[in-house]
Amino acid sequence: METLKGKQVLVVGATGTIGAAIVKLLVGSGALVAITGRNKSKLDELARANGISLNRTVEMDLASTASIIAAMTTLKQEMPVVDILVNAAGVGIIKPLELLSESDLLQSLQVNLIGVFHLVQAVLPGMKEQKKGLIINIPGILGKVPMAGAAAYSASKYGLVGMMQSIREELKRTEIRITNLFLGGVDSAFWDHIDLRVQRDKMVVAEEAAKAVWFLCQQPRSGVVSEMVLQPFNHQAI
Ligand SMILES: NC(=O)c1ccc[n+]([C@@H]2O[C@H](COP(=O)([O-])OP(=O)(O)OC[C@H]3O[C@@H](n4cnc5c(N)ncnc54)[C@H](OP(=O)(O)O)[C@@H]3O)[C@@H](O)[C@H]2O)c1
Repeated sequence: METLKGKQVLVVGATGTIGAAIVKLLVGSGALVAITGRNKSKLDELARANGISLNRTVEMDLASTASIIAAMTTLKQEMPVVDILVNAAGVGIIKPLELLSESDLLQSLQVNLIGVFHLVQAVLPGMKEQKKGLIINIPGILGKVPMAGAAAYSASKYGLVGMMQSIREELKRTEIRITNLFLGGVDSAFWDHIDLRVQRDKMVVAEEAAKAVWFLCQQPRSGVVSEMVLQPFNHQAI
């Protein structure tokens, strides 16, 4: 396993349930972590709890290209090259097609797909210069297997998978790794606003999902984990 000590790791969506758990594990392993989220006070609280300098906390709204570009420009002063990008941000709009609006679809695509496009464009030049790097996304099972009510969400997550797989093809002559983590249901704030009967006590615990990301951040130099699937034991979709 590669060491995390001294690695420059950018965690996007660090204020989320899984994101915050990832930050804790990475800092605990000696990584030099920078964090982004939409809410400044949540970000600062997370930074304080993990001993991260407030200079390494940046507000970023993935729904706004201008916000992503501004955030990545600010971050460059603290983190000129990102060794590992972990994208733990995402929006989940799950409802039947007749209730889905065009704006639901656009928001899903903007945050889960187009925002990631801009993020990846921002970190890749530095990684290409070093000829190495790692980008981890969390498309989730719904980026691989369909579910009723997930038309907008799955459109964005299947799109994310396709985009990252194509980018991987462009990076074949480098040591830049692209990893997609397919998580099944994880007990997190993600489900707070989803009108669906789910058994949260049967879901994967957020800290365990974070451990999977922590493991993926240390994948061996001699190989690459292109994808990983982690889902609740009693609700396996694959
Ligand atoms: N929980 C699951 O069952 C599950 C399963 C498979 C995949 N996933 C994926 O795992 C990732 C993390 O989810 P989670 O379970 O930790 O959910 P969560 O607790 O709701 O966290 C979501 C994160 O995404 C951020 N976010 C939402 N909209 C954003 C925007 N417009 N710009 C920037 N950040 C935005 C949130 O920021 P704020 O703090 O500012 O709201 C938060 O940090 C997501 O990509 C999700 O799709 C989750």
